[in-house]
Amino acid sequence: MKNSKQNMKARRQFLIKGSAALGALSISPLLGQGMMGMHHGNREMGAMDHGSMMGSMDHGMMKEMGVPPMVKEGYQLGLNQLTIKDIEMMQKANLNLMPVTMMPSGNLLPELSLLKNETQEVGQFKGTLRVQAVKASLVPGTETSFWGYNGMLPGPQIVVYEGDTVTIDVINELDEETTVHWHGLLVPASEDGNPQDAIKPKGKRTYSFKIPQNSAGTYWYHPHGHGTVSKQVFMGLAGTFIVKKREDLFADLPEKHLLISDLKLHEDGTIAENSFFDWMNGREGQFTLINGALEPVIEVEGATRFRVWNACSARYLYLDLGFADVYLIATDGGYIESPQKLDNILLSPGERIEVVVIPTRTGSAKLSNLSYNRQKMGPVSVSPTYNLATIKMKKQSGYQMPSSINSLPKYGEPTKSHSIEYTEVMNHNQLLFLVNGKMHSLDRIDEVVSKDSIEEWIVFNNSHMDHNFHIHGTQFYVIEKEVNGVVTPAAYKAFKDTINLKPYERVRLLMKQDYKGLRMYHCHILEHETLGMMGQLESII
Ligand code: C2O
Ligand code: CU
Ligand code: CU
Repeated sequence: MKNSKQNMKARRQFLIKGSAALGALSISPLLGQGMMGMHHGNREMGAMDHGSMMGSMDHGMMKEMGVPPMVKEGYQLGLNQLTIKDIEMMQKANLNLMPVTMMPSGNLLPELSLLKNETQEVGQFKGTLRVQAVKASLVPGTETSFWGYNGMLPGPQIVVYEGDTVTIDVINELDEETTVHWHGLLVPASEDGNPQDAIKPKGKRTYSFKIPQNSAGTYWYHPHGHGTVSKQVFMGLAGTFIVKKREDLFADLPEKHLLISDLKLHEDGTIAENSFFDWMNGREGQFTLINGALEPVIEVEGATRFRVWNACSARYLYLDLGFADVYLIATDGGYIESPQKLDNILLSPGERIEVVVIPTRTGSAKLSNLSYNRQKMGPVSVSPTYNLATIKMKKQSGYQMPSSINSLPKYGEPTKSHSIEYTEVMNHNQLLFLVNGKMHSLDRIDEVVSKDSIEEWIVFNNSHMDHNFHIHGTQFYVIEKEVNGVVTPAAYKAFKDTINLKPYERVRLLMKQDYKGLRMYHCHILEHETLGMMGQLESII
C-alpha cells in the first residue's frame, strides 16, 4: 500500500529526529504495570539506531521525560499552540509518579452507588448530578483532589427502564464549563451534551429525554466540552448508565459491574497532567482500576452477568476471559441475537460488553489484561499482560444459555455513503490528528445525514497506530473490516457505537440517525479527540 509506506517513512523520520531521541530501555517493574512508561518493546523502536538518538541521556532522564527536546514554544499540538507554561507542565507530568505498590489492592470489588431517583412516579427518573471538586485519600498518607459527579469516583450509576422519561439536573460547581454527554444513548441532539451547549461555571441545566424501546443496554456519561474532555475525564468525571428491559431474559442472574478506568498519580497523590506522550498516544495512568479499586477481588457465585465498561482515556483492554465459560450477550448497543462464547475480547476506550460468566470450577482465578500492541509512538512500550482482578468463583453446573436472545432490525441498502479518513501529521513543528484532513471545528458541518435513512460510513485509519471511531446519536452495524485487501465480514450482528481500527484498517458501517440535529464523531482516545480528531454531522429531514 502506497500510503502506508509513505506514512511509515514519515514516521521513522519523526521518530529519529524527534521523540525517539529517547531510545532503548529496560523494563522496570513499575513500568511493567503499564505506566506511561519509557521502556521499549515496540518493534520499530527496536529497529532504530539507538546510538544516534540517545546522545548522553540515561535511563533516569527517560523515566522522567515529559516532552521531547524538539517541542518548543509555539509548537502546534492539535488545536493548541504550546506556551512555555504548557511545556513546563508537560515536563513535570512524569516526575515523581507514585509506585503502583503504594495503592492498597486486593479488597472486595466496591459496588457502584446508584443515583437516587427523586420521583416515585412510574416511568419517570429524576436525578441530580453536581459536578464537584472534591478531595479524598485514595492512598494512605496522601490526598487527591479530583472532580466527581456528586463527589464520587466513579460517578453514581443511573438505572432506568425502556420507555422512561429521564430528567437530570446538572449543577456545575466547577470554575470551568462542562457538559454531560450520554455516550451511546439515543437522545435528541439538544440533550446530548454537545460542546456547543456548555454549562457555564457555577451554572446549571436540565437534560431531559425519553428512553426508546429496544434500547436496553450498558451506557455511560462523561463531559464533552470543547478542548476539555481529556482533563475533565482524567480528573474523574465519568459514570455508568444502564437501561433495563421490564421483562428481561437474564433477570434472574446476579450482576457484577466493572467500570474500568485508569489513574495517573504523582507520589503525593495529586493527579498528574498529560505529558507530551500522553497527548500523542493517549494517556495511560499507572493504575488500572475497577470501580475505583486496584486489583479487587470479585466474588462470583455461579452464573453471573457482568457489565464491563472501558472508561479509560486511552488504555486498550484485551481481557482474558479464560477463567470461566464466558458468553457475550450484549455490546455497546444492547443485546446481540445469540450468545457468543468468548476466550478474550478487545475493548478500545469507550466500548462496553455484557457477558454471562459461568464458573466451571470452584476456586480462584485471575482476570488479566493481555498485552496488545496498539502501535504507540515514541519512547513508550507495549503494555505487558498484567492482572486486573482476582475472581473468587463458585462452580455452576447445569446453567443453560438461551440459544437466542434478541432479533435485530434488518438494514437494507444504504442511500448514501460517507468516507472518513484518519491521518496524522507529525514533524518538528506540529502533531495533528485529522479527520478527512481537518481538525474539529465547532461551526463546520462535515457530513450531512438524512434522518431515518440507512447510510453507509466507510472509516479508514490511514495511520500507523490504532484509533477508534465513535459516533453520537446512533448505534451502527459493522458490516465488514478490511486490512491489506483482506476483507472480514462481521462474525455476528451487533449494535455498536465505538469500533477499533488497526493501522490501515477500513471498516464499513451501516447506521441511521433517528433525530435531527448536530452530532459528533471522533476517536475515543480522549487526548486525540481533545486535540481535534473529531468531525460533526448534521442530521436533516
Ligand atoms: Cu464517549 Cu463523544 O463520546
Ligand atoms: Cu458519545
Ligand atoms: Cu486516536
